[in-house]
Amino acid sequence: MPESRVPRRRRFLVCEPRHFAVQYAINPWMHPDTPVDVDLAQEQWQSLVRAYEAYGHTVDAVEPAPGLPDMVFAANSAFVVAGRVFGSRFHAPERRPESAHYETWFKAAGYDVYRPENTCEGEGDLVWTGKYVLAGHGFRTTREAHREAQEFFGHPVISLTLVDPRFYHLDTALFVLDDEGDGNIAYYPEAFSAGSREVLERLYPDAVLATRDDALAFGLNSVSDGRHVFIAPQAETLAARLDAHGYVPVPVDLSEFRKAGGGIKCCTQEIR
Ligand code: ARG
Repeated sequence: MPESRVPRRRRFLVCEPRHFAVQYAINPWMHPDTPVDVDLAQEQWQSLVRAYEAYGHTVDAVEPAPGLPDMVFAANSAFVVAGRVFGSRFHAPERRPESAHYETWFKAAGYDVYRPENTCEGEGDLVWTGKYVLAGHGFRTTREAHREAQEFFGHPVISLTLVDPRFYHLDTALFVLDDEGDGNIAYYPEAFSAGSREVLERLYPDAVLATRDDALAFGLNSVSDGRHVFIAPQAETLAARLDAHGYVPVPVDLSEFRKAGGGIKCCTQEIR
């Protein structure tokens, strides 16, 4: 029998998709010729915010800036643990101006923002497990940024190598289910190098594994509050496995954002 899972209230930072579009291609999901339905994107995004609020979470929003179509992906703007904000330095020149907008928001909210010297895309590649930081590299965030984050936070940073360009950010291949005690994660093993897979197996022998279809449906781009898992409805196998482990899947469809290579977690920054 799965144990009963206890949720913890979260504070999330989001950015409305007012200027969302696919105007350039910086990952294999993006095709500037495929039109984005902006109204549908707005509706889907609103349903995510409503779902967070319905489960008792606090949602803050950054004002979107025109000309920054990927700014909706709030996860990439920073990585925050215990009130320490490690800002972003984007790989793609198109996204670089986003950092300053988020920095302005954090400063107004009373936080100091550390500006990394190395390429780092926030919670896209840095994941807090409650004990340490799992950090992806291979496509965006660099290993030098992992070292920089370790110096900044004083928490162990475990580097993991991503090998499939469709899973270019760590948060497309792995998410934290539980950040209390030893915690647990869900992930898609094939997105990682053989050595990194072994690391994950050793750290999380009871992890929930996703299928390729789950991963391609952005099922690993999910947000968990320790009990409820906000997840793409298309990730059916993963949702069933989560249910069997005592979690409660809460389906939220952000299909329009997949055209930019994003999903639920990409649209969500957690402020810890
Ligand atoms: N188009 C964006 C990019 O390629 C999508 C970012 C998705 N964010 C994420 N946390 N995975 O940068």
